[in-house]
Amino acid sequence: MEIINRRQRMSSVARKVRRDQDQTIGLVPTMGALHEGHLSLVREARRMCDVVVVTVFVNPTQFGLDEDFAHYPRDLTKDAARLTDYNVDYIFAPSIEEVYPKDFATYVTVGGLSEQLEGAARPGHFRGVATVVAVLLNIVRPDFAFFGQKDAQQTLIVKRLVRDLAFETEIVVLPTIREESGLALSSRNAYLSEEEKRAAVILSHALTRAKEAYKAGERSGSRLVETVRATVAGEPLARLDYVSVTDADTLENLEKLDDRTVLIALAVNFGKTRLIDNIVLNRKKNGGSAAAS
Ligand code: PAF
Repeated sequence: MEIINRRQRMSSVARKVRRDQDQTIGLVPTMGALHEGHLSLVREARRMCDVVVVTVFVNPTQFGLDEDFAHYPRDLTKDAARLTDYNVDYIFAPSIEEVYPKDFATYVTVGGLSEQLEGAARPGHFRGVATVVAVLLNIVRPDFAFFGQKDAQQTLIVKRLVRDLAFETEIVVLPTIREESGLALSSRNAYLSEEEKRAAVILSHALTRAKEAYKAGERSGSRLVETVRATVAGEPLARLDYVSVTDADTLENLEKLDDRTVLIALAVNFGKTRLIDNIVLNRKKNGGSAAAS
């Protein structure tokens, strides 16, 4: 496993793999602080591709001014040690200047999908995500890139970016990995106190309640929202930021649920820590919903 810091070296290594060795490349973009969720992406990349590249880059442009960029956990040695067991070929861990050279001025905005939910709560966040993903895809030019369903809106935006700008990369979305309690794995779980961590299972509980209501025949978007809201309200440490019931492909709010695939997504604050989670209902068996893939 080689750790590469320079974009030129990464590009030339990837070019050689593609052209001279005719091998496929799988890219797993991360911000480090790797956990089982990331490792599930790496495992699938390893299974599907000849060469696996994991990027570790805490991307400043996707953090708001009052967010946790400065405190985001960074430990490349620990991340690299975790990846040694997974037969990863390259870690690309560039500096900020390598990704955003002096006078960097080109940003990517995926219209429509970027404004609601996380985009409304975190203005500019998805512009930063789309921009860094575009840069990473251009440097590595992978055949496949792997993302987790936990960031459902991000997966939709990346898929649209790839389609609209004609990147030759297939986006693979893999299920959310959860602790036994139901808590979705996230690098930000590390910020939680023991008490907050116990309380944070309320996100998956609330989604499970909504799913049960849906299974029992509930088809009103606002009543499903209310189910989630009431469940979260029962946890004193939790402050609900938003809950939404939307079309899983377009993120259009759904009042009356029909045969479309549904995404129920929420964000909840515990002290200064903000967690997100989601569930997909009425998932189409063959393709269909992007978020459900
Ligand atoms: O999901 C993440 O960790 C980040 O948003 C990503 C895709 C690595 C871009 O910085």
